Amino acid sequence: MKILGIETSCDETAAAVVEDGCTIFSSVVASQIEVHKPYGGVVPELASRKHIEAIVPVVEQALTDADLAPEAVDAVAVTRGPGLVGALLVGFTFAKSWAYARGLPWIGVNHLEGHINSVFLTPTPPPFPFVALLVSGGHTSVYHVTGHTGVELMGQTRDDAAGEAFDKVAKMLNLGYPGGGIIGKLSKEGDPAAIKFPRPYLDKKAFDFSFSGLKSAVRRHIETHPQAAEKQTADITASFQEAAVDVLAYKLMQAARVKKCDHIAVVGGVAANERLREKVTALAREKGLSVHIPPIELCGDNAAMIAAVGYHYLKEGKRSALEDDVFSTTRMGI
Ligand code: KG4
Ligand code: ZN
Repeated sequence: MKILGIETSCDETAAAVVEDGCTIFSSVVASQIEVHKPYGGVVPELASRKHIEAIVPVVEQALTDADLAPEAVDAVAVTRGPGLVGALLVGFTFAKSWAYARGLPWIGVNHLEGHINSVFLTPTPPPFPFVALLVSGGHTSVYHVTGHTGVELMGQTRDDAAGEAFDKVAKMLNLGYPGGGIIGKLSKEGDPAAIKFPRPYLDKKAFDFSFSGLKSAVRRHIETHPQAAEKQTADITASFQEAAVDVLAYKLMQAARVKKCDHIAVVGGVAANERLREKVTALAREKGLSVHIPPIELCGDNAAMIAAVGYHYLKEGKRSALEDDVFSTTRMGI
């Protein structure tokens, strides 16, 4: 089944064609970074407007890259939430109309389930069950995954998401937007042991996260060492990154141990972080676990992951209805 996937939950307009939830025919991502850069963060109204401009060319490009006529598409999958409502509505309404006009089945899916299913777009996907760490700009959670659809939430952040903390620390140091990638790169030149930032493990047996304390510790350090902030920026970012990565990797390993899972996955925008990939891979090797982290282009928001999870819901016979609406906050399922 060839599915056209559409994603517009935040600041990327994306479309993809994926067969049977695993084979990518095309994946087009139009980023709005340049639009939001001057504001240091995503401006929802601008995001919606840019999605409106980009959605038709991006879908056309995805079909062209896949070498497919619109008639060859079997179904449509689109992000229903969570995300920015105005942004979501652009993709959701487009997908609804495109499918309705062609008499095709269509399904609105959860963005987070999309990220989790991104590992099935890799040549060696994990077997079920596995434990997944989802780390993005809006979410930081651990899931026990027993099937493509419907996952068990084991814990999540009580305040900032990991990506949000990376972005805010980059902003404090005037490094630019979006900060995650910049911090990852700069930290290679720094000493991760230079500053001992706190590791917010909370209850070491639970799977909740909290990154606002770590973020405040970095802020305090910058305020009390203004010269160091200029001269030792890489040491600060490397030390912050190390603290965040330590906690993320620890909780993921704990979750695998509690669930007696031999397979783990890391997904979402922050899964692009080299230090996180390195640490999780090293710990997993020690413990004999198999690790599944998608290639960088499938870590950030994309529509291939939306088509992938959509395939499994459609196969189960699920369909969205024309009166269905988007949702802004976290909930799992369609
Ligand atoms: O999954 P994603 O593209 O969008 C959301 O669903 O939120 O994640 C975006 C987040 C941003 O906060 C960005 O700074 C972060 O992922 N990110 C990174 C890296 N690349 C992107 N964080 C740390 N290291 C990176 N290399
Ligand atoms: Zn995302």
